[in-house]
Amino acid sequence: MKFFLDTADLAEIAEAASWGVVAGVTTNPSLYARIGGKLADFPAHIQRICELTDGPVSAEAVGTTREEIIAEGEELAALASNVVVKIPTTIEGLAATKALSAKGIPVNMTLCFSVPQAIMAARAGAAYISPFVGRFDDISEDGLAQLEDVVVAIENYDFDQPVEIIAASIRSAHHVTQSALMGADIATVPFDVLKKLVEHPLTDRGLASFEADWKKVVQA
Ligand code: E4P
Repeated sequence: MKFFLDTADLAEIAEAASWGVVAGVTTNPSLYARIGGKLADFPAHIQRICELTDGPVSAEAVGTTREEIIAEGEELAALASNVVVKIPTTIEGLAATKALSAKGIPVNMTLCFSVPQAIMAARAGAAYISPFVGRFDDISEDGLAQLEDVVVAIENYDFDQPVEIIAASIRSAHHVTQSALMGADIATVPFDVLKKLVEHPLTDRGLASFEADWKKVVQA
């Protein structure tokens, strides 16, 4: 499984990139607003994220009609060669995905919550599909079971283009572990969750005991 970072924060991207584990970035309007982003700065901000990222950067189109989404997607794709246009899984989104992918612009279909949505996204030409896990958990439903259904269903078929499943709306190490076990291609993870993934109390305990034993060696 590859890790994408789910953020719009440049410092988080630079730090996580230095760990050598980040294969891409996903952003959304909420994440951009969270860092105090302004609409006028959005294109330049996406360009900075693309420069910092050695891999695909999903930038979300916010239009609601196919014409708006296509125009926005073309503008986003022109910003950098590693831009992926992120488009909600709606009828207008499917039509825009068909048009953009036909022009060679990669699309990540987002806000995907069901197997039929995922198959339709793949048929429309999406290179990535993002089933959301945490938002099911928010309404007391099983987000991991929904993700697994999508992984199995997409693997059942051949599509005209390669399709990668991004486990999205990831909130915990448990979500990441289960996504990896069921074979999701990618998990897009907020920075605080990514940091927790490398931490383990037994690693800390092991380090502490090595340090204590090394002091004994030095003092002997
Ligand atoms: C990523 O592409 C999604 O926008 C993101 O994972 C959503 O996460 P959330 O449900 O925690 O907002």
